[in-house]
Amino acid sequence: MSHVVHYGSSVFEGIRCYTQPQGSAVFRLPEHMQRLLDSAKIYRMEVPYSLEELCAAVVDLIEANGISSSYVRPIVLRGYGEIGVSPKGSPIEVYIANFPWGKYIAGTGGADVCISSWNRLAPNTMPALAKAGANYMNSQLIHMEAEINGYQEGIGLDVNGLVSEGSGENIFIVRNGVLYTPPLANSTLSGITRDSVLTIARHMGLTVSEQALPRELLYIADEVFFSGTAAEVSPIRSIDRIVIADGKPGEITKKIADEFFGIANGLKPDRFGWLTPVKLKSAEPVIA
Ligand SMILES: Cc1ncc(COP(=O)(O)O)c(C=O)c1O
Repeated sequence: MSHVVHYGSSVFEGIRCYTQPQGSAVFRLPEHMQRLLDSAKIYRMEVPYSLEELCAAVVDLIEANGISSSYVRPIVLRGYGEIGVSPKGSPIEVYIANFPWGKYIAGTGGADVCISSWNRLAPNTMPALAKAGANYMNSQLIHMEAEINGYQEGIGLDVNGLVSEGSGENIFIVRNGVLYTPPLANSTLSGITRDSVLTIARHMGLTVSEQALPRELLYIADEVFFSGTAAEVSPIRSIDRIVIADGKPGEITKKIADEFFGIANGLKPDRFGWLTPVKLKSAEPVIA
């Protein structure tokens, strides 16, 4: 009978903790927790913890559970109170779980994806910048349709037919050496991995452009890839059965992925300060 079950009133995060030669580290923890607080603010949910407390709780959880490589899922929700749509009488509850989670988009050769017949959330309907549980009803429609039709993932267009993002990933294209991604105004989530990719690309000296992208630019791109905490940096091989370039992960995609995984896995210097180290107390997960 919790408010969240009936009305989708939750905001959440997805964070990865990576095993590294020198221990384990959480990737961009404060940025994720700040986005959680931002999502909550949009929905007028008062989170009873500070940014610092939320970050410390994630570190404590990972250390206690002892899973060196895991996916962390913090969620803020409206619990059991009153059954009406007004959330006033329902308490805010905060939970954090972590568990092992491997590759979200299988394979290394690139994903076969489609453009969904479902559009992304229109502006001023469901706020796309809030990572709210309810938004993922739209993601489910996009993802289920893709899967049923034999694709690994679906890309949503915004309400005007411009490229937005995957059901759970931001999207990038490379054309003539320039890296493009849709801006936040095209109903995209402000992805932390998106920001990491943009940062890495700028430091590589690439020209980067956040601009509206027509659908057909995807088909004629030199390279296309997804970014996301779950998907990490995942090349796309084909869209609507149209093969992207020669169907192999492109050079710029590979370079960006190499830098991203190098930092996340602790094999390259953490030159942007993205890692929060954790000390595991036990080698095995604690059984509940
Ligand atoms: C709809 C959507 N877009 C983009 C992303 C990528 O965001 P991030 O890189 O912060 O995980 C996600 C995943 O959280 C998502 O669910």
